[in-house]
Amino acid sequence: MADVLEIARAMPGDAEWCARLMAGSEPWITLGRGYQDCLARCLHPEYDLLVARAGGVPCGFVLLHPRGLAGSPYIAAIAVDPAWRGRGVGSALVGAAERFYPDARHLFLLVSSFNRGAQRLYARLGFRQVGEIPDYVIAGASELIFHKRLRSS
Ligand SMILES: CC(C)(COP(=O)(O)OP(=O)(O)OC[C@H]1O[C@@H](n2cnc3c(N)ncnc32)[C@H](O)[C@@H]1OP(=O)(O)O)[C@@H](O)C(=O)NCCC(=O)NCCS
Repeated sequence: MADVLEIARAMPGDAEWCARLMAGSEPWITLGRGYQDCLARCLHPEYDLLVARAGGVPCGFVLLHPRGLAGSPYIAAIAVDPAWRGRGVGSALVGAAERFYPDARHLFLLVSSFNRGAQRLYARLGFRQVGEIPDYVIAGASELIFHKRLRSS
């Protein structure tokens, strides 16, 4: 990647950019998440929103909840601007999520059964599927529970 990538907490105005990216991308189109729903999540005070910038321009984000699943940190959403996909930004955002809560021993996320590209990425980054919730958001699709052990004690 030519530009230096910086990942930091969202700045004012970032949540709107993130919500637009999210609402305009799969899997959220298929899952029926509109802009207002995405914006409410990105602005929710219980969540931590991290934004990746290349040359100062936003190119991706990860939305985290500190105790989102089984009391452990949870990646609630992650997306990269389509022009930036396949260049390591998503992997860097997952790495930032792994480091964000220094005491965390586990990291969870849900990925849709039809989102094979994201499943491949998470498997490559050390996540393993530990469960499946059929018909969770929409009928006919499962949400797969992925887990990564960050440290043993
Ligand atoms: C998934 C996503 C965040 C990965 O970001 P990225 O910057 O492209 O990731 P990296 O460059 O680090 O890694 C590339 C890998 O991401 C996955 N990927 C690539 N394009 C993808 C897409 N359109 N949708 C889902 N996953 C994709 C693939 O596993 C790819 O590896 P491959 O080239 O060997 O197939 C990004 O593709 C994206 O925003 N997708 C749409 C939103 C989404 O699916 N989010 C995950 C919800 S659980």
